Amino acid sequence: MAQEVRGVIAPGKNEPVRVETIVVPDPGPGEAVVRVQACGVCHTDLHYKQGGINDEFPFLLGHEAAGVVESVGENVTDVAPGDFVILNWRAVCGTCRACERGRPWYCFDTHNARQKMTLTDGTELSPALGIGAFAEKTLVAAGQCTKVDPSVSPAVAGLLGCGVMAGIGAAINTGNVGRGDSVAVIGCGGVGDAAIAGSYLAGAAKIIAVDIDDRKLETARTMGATHTVNSTKTDPVEAIRELTGGFGADVVIEAVGRPETYRQAFYARDLAGTVVLVGVPTPEMKLELPLLDVFGRGGALKSSWYGDCLPSRDFPMLIDLHLQGRLPLDKFVTETIQLDEVEKAFERMNCGDVLRSVVVL
Ligand code: APR
Ligand code: ZN
Ligand code: ZN
Repeated sequence: MAQEVRGVIAPGKNEPVRVETIVVPDPGPGEAVVRVQACGVCHTDLHYKQGGINDEFPFLLGHEAAGVVESVGENVTDVAPGDFVILNWRAVCGTCRACERGRPWYCFDTHNARQKMTLTDGTELSPALGIGAFAEKTLVAAGQCTKVDPSVSPAVAGLLGCGVMAGIGAAINTGNVGRGDSVAVIGCGGVGDAAIAGSYLAGAAKIIAVDIDDRKLETARTMGATHTVNSTKTDPVEAIRELTGGFGADVVIEAVGRPETYRQAFYARDLAGTVVLVGVPTPEMKLELPLLDVFGRGGALKSSWYGDCLPSRDFPMLIDLHLQGRLPLDKFVTETIQLDEVEKAFERMNCGDVLRSVVVL
Protein backbone atom coordinates (compact mmCIF):
# COMPACT_ATOMS: atom_id res chain seq x y z
CA MET A 1 0.00 0.00 0.00
CA ALA A 2 1.31 3.44 -0.92
CA GLN A 3 1.83 5.57 2.17
CA GLU A 4 1.37 9.27 2.89
CA VAL A 5 4.17 10.95 4.83
CA ARG A 6 5.59 14.46 5.29
CA GLY A 7 8.40 15.72 3.07
CA VAL A 8 10.19 19.01 2.26
CA ILE A 9 9.34 20.26 -1.23
CA ALA A 10 10.98 22.97 -3.33
CA PRO A 11 7.89 24.02 -5.33
CA GLY A 12 9.52 26.40 -7.84
CA LYS A 13 12.62 28.44 -8.60
CA ASN A 14 13.71 30.45 -5.53
CA GLU A 15 10.41 29.83 -3.74
CA PRO A 16 10.70 28.98 -0.06
CA VAL A 17 10.64 25.28 0.66
CA ARG A 18 7.67 23.84 2.56
CA VAL A 19 6.53 20.65 4.22
CA GLU A 20 3.85 18.82 2.22
CA THR A 21 2.20 15.43 2.29
CA ILE A 22 3.85 13.11 -0.21
CA VAL A 23 2.89 9.68 -1.47
CA VAL A 24 5.52 6.95 -1.25
CA PRO A 25 4.69 3.86 -3.34
CA ASP A 26 5.47 0.31 -2.29
CA PRO A 27 8.94 -0.72 -3.44
CA GLY A 28 9.06 -2.24 -6.91
CA PRO A 29 11.66 -4.74 -8.13
CA GLY A 30 15.12 -3.72 -6.93
CA GLU A 31 13.71 -0.94 -4.74
CA ALA A 32 13.45 -0.22 -1.01
CA VAL A 33 11.41 2.09 1.19
CA VAL A 34 13.53 3.59 3.96
CA ARG A 35 12.26 5.18 7.18
CA VAL A 36 14.54 8.21 7.33
CA GLN A 37 16.07 8.95 10.74
CA ALA A 38 18.40 11.83 9.83
CA CYS A 39 19.25 13.93 6.79
CA GLY A 40 21.86 16.70 6.56
CA VAL A 41 21.30 20.03 4.78
CA CYS A 42 23.78 20.38 1.88
CA HIS A 43 24.59 23.22 -0.54
CA THR A 44 23.29 21.04 -3.36
CA ASP A 45 19.78 21.12 -1.84
CA LEU A 46 19.98 24.90 -1.91
CA HIS A 47 21.16 24.78 -5.55
CA TYR A 48 18.13 22.62 -6.43
CA LYS A 49 15.81 25.14 -4.76
CA GLN A 50 17.47 28.00 -6.66
CA GLY A 51 16.97 26.20 -9.97
CA GLY A 52 20.73 25.87 -10.42
CA ILE A 53 20.73 22.15 -11.24
CA ASN A 54 17.71 21.67 -13.49
CA ASP A 55 14.15 22.90 -13.63
CA GLU A 56 12.37 19.66 -12.86
CA PHE A 57 10.33 21.22 -10.06
CA PRO A 58 8.85 20.27 -7.65
CA PHE A 59 11.87 18.72 -5.95
CA LEU A 60 11.77 16.51 -2.90
CA LEU A 61 14.94 17.76 -1.22
CA GLY A 62 17.48 16.04 1.05
CA HIS A 63 20.18 13.52 0.19
CA GLU A 64 22.61 13.09 3.14
CA ALA A 65 20.63 10.51 5.00
CA ALA A 66 20.55 7.43 7.15
CA GLY A 67 17.62 5.33 8.26
CA VAL A 68 16.09 1.90 8.57
CA VAL A 69 14.89 -0.19 5.65
CA GLU A 70 11.15 -0.66 6.04
CA SER A 71 10.32 -2.84 3.05
CA VAL A 72 12.01 -4.14 -0.09
CA GLY A 73 10.70 -5.17 -3.51
CA GLU A 74 11.44 -8.27 -5.56
CA ASN A 75 15.03 -9.26 -6.33
CA VAL A 76 16.50 -7.36 -3.40
CA THR A 77 19.10 -9.47 -1.63
CA ASP A 78 21.70 -7.08 -0.21
CA VAL A 79 19.43 -5.33 2.29
CA ALA A 80 16.39 -6.44 4.27
CA PRO A 81 13.72 -4.77 6.43
CA GLY A 82 15.24 -3.63 9.71
CA ASP A 83 18.72 -2.94 8.31
CA PHE A 84 20.31 0.37 9.29
CA VAL A 85 21.62 2.01 6.12
CA ILE A 86 23.28 5.13 4.75
CA LEU A 87 21.80 6.31 1.44
CA ASN A 88 24.10 7.14 -1.46
CA TRP A 89 23.76 8.72 -4.86
CA ARG A 90 26.29 6.39 -6.41
CA ALA A 91 24.70 2.97 -6.77
CA VAL A 92 27.25 1.75 -9.29
CA CYS A 93 26.10 -0.47 -12.12
CA GLY A 94 29.00 -2.92 -12.15
CA THR A 95 28.87 -3.42 -15.91
CA CYS A 96 29.77 -0.11 -17.62
CA ARG A 97 33.25 0.57 -18.96
CA ALA A 98 34.34 2.46 -15.82
CA CYS A 99 33.08 -0.33 -13.56
CA GLU A 100 34.65 -3.08 -15.64
CA ARG A 101 37.97 -1.30 -15.75
CA GLY A 102 38.07 -1.16 -11.95
CA ARG A 103 37.21 2.51 -11.56
CA PRO A 104 33.58 2.32 -10.46
CA TRP A 105 33.76 5.79 -8.91
CA TYR A 106 33.54 7.07 -12.50
CA CYS A 107 30.32 5.06 -13.08
CA PHE A 108 27.68 7.45 -14.30
CA ASP A 109 25.05 4.79 -14.84
CA THR A 110 23.77 5.14 -11.31
CA HIS A 111 20.60 3.27 -10.48
CA ASN A 112 17.83 5.29 -8.85
CA ALA A 113 14.33 4.06 -8.07
CA ARG A 114 12.21 3.69 -11.21
CA GLN A 115 8.88 4.49 -9.57
CA LYS A 116 8.03 8.07 -8.65
CA MET A 117 7.00 9.59 -5.37
CA THR A 118 4.20 12.16 -5.84
CA LEU A 119 2.20 14.89 -4.16
CA THR A 120 -1.33 13.85 -3.13
CA ASP A 121 -2.71 15.36 -6.38
CA GLY A 122 -0.49 13.00 -8.38
CA THR A 123 2.20 15.55 -9.33
CA GLU A 124 5.49 13.67 -9.75
CA LEU A 125 8.36 14.71 -7.51
CA SER A 126 12.04 14.89 -8.51
CA PRO A 127 14.02 13.51 -5.57
CA ALA A 128 17.29 15.43 -5.01
CA LEU A 129 20.18 13.30 -6.32
CA GLY A 130 17.73 10.41 -6.72
CA ILE A 131 17.19 10.28 -2.96
CA GLY A 132 14.73 12.86 -1.54
CA ALA A 133 15.27 12.23 2.16
CA PHE A 134 13.88 15.31 3.90
CA ALA A 135 10.90 13.04 4.39
CA GLU A 136 9.67 10.58 6.96
CA LYS A 137 10.05 7.83 4.36
CA THR A 138 11.59 7.69 0.93
CA LEU A 139 11.73 5.28 -2.00
CA VAL A 140 15.20 4.46 -3.37
CA ALA A 141 16.94 1.76 -5.36
CA ALA A 142 18.21 -0.95 -3.05
CA GLY A 143 21.72 -0.29 -4.40
CA GLN A 144 21.52 3.17 -2.84
CA CYS A 145 21.39 1.58 0.63
CA THR A 146 24.62 0.61 2.39
CA LYS A 147 24.43 -1.28 5.67
CA VAL A 148 26.59 0.04 8.51
CA ASP A 149 26.95 -0.66 12.25
CA PRO A 150 23.58 0.40 13.74
CA SER A 151 25.12 1.59 16.99
CA VAL A 152 26.21 4.86 15.35
CA SER A 153 23.96 7.92 15.69
CA PRO A 154 21.86 8.41 12.52
CA ALA A 155 22.75 12.13 12.37
CA VAL A 156 26.43 11.19 12.18
CA ALA A 157 25.93 8.32 9.74
CA GLY A 158 23.98 10.42 7.24
CA LEU A 159 26.95 12.78 6.84
CA LEU A 160 28.75 10.17 4.76
CA GLY A 161 25.97 10.42 2.20
CA CYS A 162 27.58 13.49 0.63
CA GLY A 163 29.77 16.38 1.77
CA VAL A 164 31.80 14.76 4.53
CA MET A 165 32.46 11.68 2.40
CA ALA A 166 33.52 14.01 -0.42
CA GLY A 167 36.12 15.66 1.81
CA ILE A 168 37.45 12.52 3.49
CA GLY A 169 37.61 10.75 0.12
CA ALA A 170 39.39 13.69 -1.53
CA ALA A 171 42.21 13.05 0.95
CA ILE A 172 42.28 9.27 1.33
CA ASN A 173 41.01 8.12 -2.08
CA THR A 174 41.84 10.80 -4.65
CA GLY A 175 44.83 12.44 -2.98
CA ASN A 176 46.16 9.15 -1.65
CA VAL A 177 47.43 10.94 1.45
CA GLY A 178 49.82 8.68 3.33
CA ARG A 179 51.87 8.52 6.50
CA GLY A 180 54.32 11.42 6.80
CA ASP A 181 52.83 13.49 3.97
CA SER A 182 52.40 17.24 4.13
CA VAL A 183 48.89 18.30 3.18
CA ALA A 184 47.36 21.73 2.66
CA VAL A 185 43.60 22.22 2.56
CA ILE A 186 42.26 25.44 1.06
CA GLY A 187 38.74 26.26 2.29
CA CYS A 188 37.70 24.86 5.66
CA GLY A 189 33.94 24.42 5.47
CA GLY A 190 32.38 21.00 5.93
CA VAL A 191 34.17 19.54 2.92
CA GLY A 192 37.60 21.02 3.73
CA ASP A 193 37.34 20.03 7.40
CA ALA A 194 36.49 16.50 6.33
CA ALA A 195 39.58 16.51 4.10
CA ILE A 196 41.58 17.56 7.17
CA ALA A 197 40.06 14.76 9.28
CA GLY A 198 40.78 12.30 6.45
CA SER A 199 44.40 13.47 6.18
CA TYR A 200 44.84 13.12 9.92
CA LEU A 201 43.40 9.61 9.77
CA ALA A 202 45.79 8.74 6.94
CA GLY A 203 48.79 9.76 9.04
CA ALA A 204 49.76 13.07 7.43
CA ALA A 205 52.60 14.69 9.35
CA LYS A 206 51.69 18.27 8.56
CA ILE A 207 48.18 19.52 7.81
CA ILE A 208 47.98 23.18 6.84
CA ALA A 209 44.49 24.70 6.90
CA VAL A 210 43.84 27.82 4.77
CA ASP A 211 40.70 29.95 5.03
CA ILE A 212 39.62 33.59 4.99
CA ASP A 213 37.76 33.28 8.31
CA ASP A 214 39.59 32.81 11.62
CA ARG A 215 36.64 30.96 13.16
CA LYS A 216 36.92 28.33 10.41
CA LEU A 217 40.61 27.96 11.14
CA GLU A 218 39.89 27.34 14.82
CA THR A 219 37.51 24.52 13.94
CA ALA A 220 40.04 23.16 11.45
CA ARG A 221 42.50 22.70 14.32
CA THR A 222 40.01 20.53 16.16
CA MET A 223 39.79 18.32 13.04
CA GLY A 224 43.55 17.75 12.98
CA ALA A 225 45.12 20.80 11.30
CA THR A 226 48.64 21.36 12.61
CA HIS A 227 49.06 24.84 11.08
CA THR A 228 46.60 27.52 9.97
CA VAL A 229 46.88 30.34 7.44
CA ASN A 230 44.41 33.20 7.08
CA SER A 231 44.80 34.00 3.38
CA THR A 232 43.43 37.54 3.79
CA LYS A 233 46.43 38.33 5.98
CA THR A 234 49.21 36.10 4.61
CA ASP A 235 49.96 34.89 1.08
CA PRO A 236 48.92 31.23 1.36
CA VAL A 237 51.35 29.98 -1.31
CA GLU A 238 54.34 31.49 0.46
CA ALA A 239 53.09 30.34 3.85
CA ILE A 240 52.60 26.74 2.68
CA ARG A 241 56.04 26.69 1.04
CA GLU A 242 57.64 28.08 4.18
CA LEU A 243 55.95 25.46 6.33
CA THR A 244 57.18 22.67 4.05
CA GLY A 245 60.86 23.49 3.89
CA GLY A 246 60.45 25.62 0.76
CA PHE A 247 59.05 22.77 -1.34
CA GLY A 248 55.28 22.98 -1.15
CA ALA A 249 52.87 20.35 0.14
CA ASP A 250 52.75 16.76 -1.09
CA VAL A 251 48.99 17.05 -1.49
CA VAL A 252 46.95 20.26 -1.77
CA ILE A 253 43.18 19.95 -1.57
CA GLU A 254 41.06 22.77 -2.97
CA ALA A 255 37.70 22.78 -1.18
CA VAL A 256 36.27 26.14 -2.28
CA GLY A 257 35.70 25.70 -6.01
CA ARG A 258 37.10 28.98 -7.36
CA PRO A 259 39.83 29.80 -9.91
CA GLU A 260 41.89 31.92 -7.51
CA THR A 261 42.00 29.24 -4.83
CA TYR A 262 42.75 26.59 -7.46
CA ARG A 263 45.70 28.70 -8.62
CA GLN A 264 46.93 28.88 -5.02
CA ALA A 265 46.66 25.11 -4.75
CA PHE A 266 48.55 24.68 -8.02
CA TYR A 267 51.50 26.77 -6.85
CA ALA A 268 51.47 25.58 -3.23
CA ARG A 269 52.23 21.96 -4.10
CA ASP A 270 55.58 20.30 -4.22
CA LEU A 271 56.98 19.91 -7.77
CA ALA A 272 55.87 16.29 -7.78
CA GLY A 273 52.83 16.93 -5.59
CA THR A 274 49.15 16.32 -6.19
CA VAL A 275 46.39 18.89 -6.44
CA VAL A 276 42.88 17.65 -5.72
CA LEU A 277 39.92 19.81 -6.71
CA VAL A 278 36.89 18.87 -4.60
CA GLY A 279 35.22 22.32 -4.39
CA VAL A 280 32.54 22.62 -7.08
CA PRO A 281 33.05 25.45 -9.60
CA THR A 282 30.21 27.15 -11.48
CA PRO A 283 29.89 26.86 -15.29
CA GLU A 284 31.23 30.34 -16.09
CA MET A 285 34.49 29.93 -14.14
CA LYS A 286 37.70 29.75 -16.17
CA LEU A 287 41.22 28.87 -15.15
CA GLU A 288 44.25 30.54 -16.68
CA LEU A 289 47.73 29.17 -15.98
CA PRO A 290 51.02 29.59 -17.88
CA LEU A 291 51.34 26.33 -19.79
CA LEU A 292 55.06 26.38 -19.02
CA ASP A 293 54.21 26.14 -15.32
CA VAL A 294 52.06 23.09 -16.00
CA PHE A 295 54.88 21.58 -18.07
CA GLY A 296 57.57 22.46 -15.54
CA ARG A 297 55.91 20.58 -12.70
CA GLY A 298 55.27 16.89 -12.42
CA GLY A 299 52.80 15.35 -10.06
CA ALA A 300 49.11 15.15 -10.71
CA LEU A 301 46.15 17.48 -11.13
CA LYS A 302 43.06 15.55 -10.06
CA SER A 303 39.44 16.19 -9.29
CA SER A 304 37.39 14.30 -6.77
CA TRP A 305 33.71 13.73 -7.22
CA TYR A 306 31.96 12.43 -4.09
CA GLY A 307 35.44 11.65 -2.79
CA ASP A 308 35.91 8.88 -5.38
CA CYS A 309 34.09 6.78 -2.85
CA LEU A 310 32.72 3.29 -3.11
CA PRO A 311 29.88 3.26 -0.59
CA SER A 312 30.07 -0.49 0.05
CA ARG A 313 33.79 -0.24 0.81
CA ASP A 314 34.04 3.17 2.48
CA PHE A 315 30.85 3.71 4.53
CA PRO A 316 31.17 0.70 6.88
CA MET A 317 34.91 1.31 7.31
CA LEU A 318 34.50 5.00 8.19
CA ILE A 319 31.64 4.30 10.59
CA ASP A 320 33.76 1.64 12.32
CA LEU A 321 36.67 4.10 12.61
CA HIS A 322 34.29 6.67 14.08
CA LEU A 323 32.92 4.17 16.62
CA GLN A 324 36.50 3.33 17.62
CA GLY A 325 37.10 7.02 18.35
CA ARG A 326 39.50 7.53 15.45
CA LEU A 327 37.35 9.80 13.23
CA PRO A 328 35.42 12.65 14.88
CA LEU A 329 32.40 12.63 12.56
CA ASP A 330 30.18 13.97 15.37
CA LYS A 331 32.01 17.32 15.22
CA PHE A 332 30.41 17.99 11.83
CA VAL A 333 26.89 18.08 13.28
CA THR A 334 26.47 21.71 14.35
CA GLU A 335 22.76 21.49 15.10
CA THR A 336 19.83 19.13 14.75
CA ILE A 337 16.58 20.53 13.40
CA GLN A 338 13.05 19.52 12.39
CA LEU A 339 11.65 19.08 8.87
CA ASP A 340 9.97 22.49 8.94
CA GLU A 341 13.26 24.27 9.73
CA VAL A 342 15.08 23.50 6.46
CA GLU A 343 14.36 26.95 5.00
CA LYS A 344 15.96 28.58 8.05
CA ALA A 345 18.93 26.20 7.76
CA PHE A 346 19.49 27.41 4.18
CA GLU A 347 19.62 30.99 5.47
CA ARG A 348 22.17 30.03 8.10
CA MET A 349 24.28 28.03 5.65
CA ASN A 350 26.47 30.91 4.57
CA CYS A 351 26.76 32.71 7.91
CA GLY A 352 29.98 30.89 8.70
CA ASP A 353 29.22 29.04 11.90
CA VAL A 354 27.36 25.98 10.65
CA LEU A 355 29.19 22.92 9.36
CA ARG A 356 26.07 20.82 9.04
CA SER A 357 22.47 21.30 10.12
CA VAL A 358 20.91 17.85 10.31
CA VAL A 359 17.19 17.14 10.20
CA VAL A 360 16.42 14.43 12.75
CA LEU A 361 13.15 12.51 12.48
N1 APR B 1 40.19 31.26 0.27
C1 APR B 1 40.10 30.34 1.29
N2 APR B 1 38.94 29.94 1.79
C2 APR B 1 37.81 30.44 1.28
C3 APR B 1 37.82 31.40 0.24
C4 APR B 1 39.08 31.81 -0.27
N3 APR B 1 39.17 32.70 -1.26
N4 APR B 1 36.53 31.72 -0.06
C5 APR B 1 35.77 31.00 0.78
N5 APR B 1 36.53 30.25 1.59
C6 APR B 1 36.13 29.33 2.65
C7 APR B 1 34.93 29.79 3.47
O1 APR B 1 35.30 30.70 4.48
C8 APR B 1 34.43 28.48 4.01
O2 APR B 1 35.05 28.13 5.23
O3 APR B 1 35.72 28.12 2.06
C9 APR B 1 34.82 27.46 2.94
C10 APR B 1 33.64 26.94 2.13
O4 APR B 1 32.88 26.21 3.00
P1 APR B 1 31.31 25.99 2.86
O5 APR B 1 30.68 27.19 2.25
O6 APR B 1 30.84 25.47 4.18
O7 APR B 1 31.22 24.83 1.75
P2 APR B 1 31.45 23.27 1.88
O8 APR B 1 30.19 22.60 2.26
O9 APR B 1 32.67 22.97 2.66
O10 APR B 1 31.73 22.93 0.33
C11 APR B 1 32.90 23.42 -0.29
O11 APR B 1 32.53 21.97 -2.15
O12 APR B 1 30.57 20.78 -2.22
C12 APR B 1 31.24 21.86 -2.73
O13 APR B 1 29.57 23.43 -3.44
C13 APR B 1 30.51 23.13 -2.43
O14 APR B 1 32.03 24.38 -3.71
C14 APR B 1 31.65 24.09 -2.39
C15 APR B 1 32.78 23.30 -1.77
ZN1 ZN C 1 29.08 1.38 -13.95
ZN1 ZN D 1 25.29 17.03 -0.98
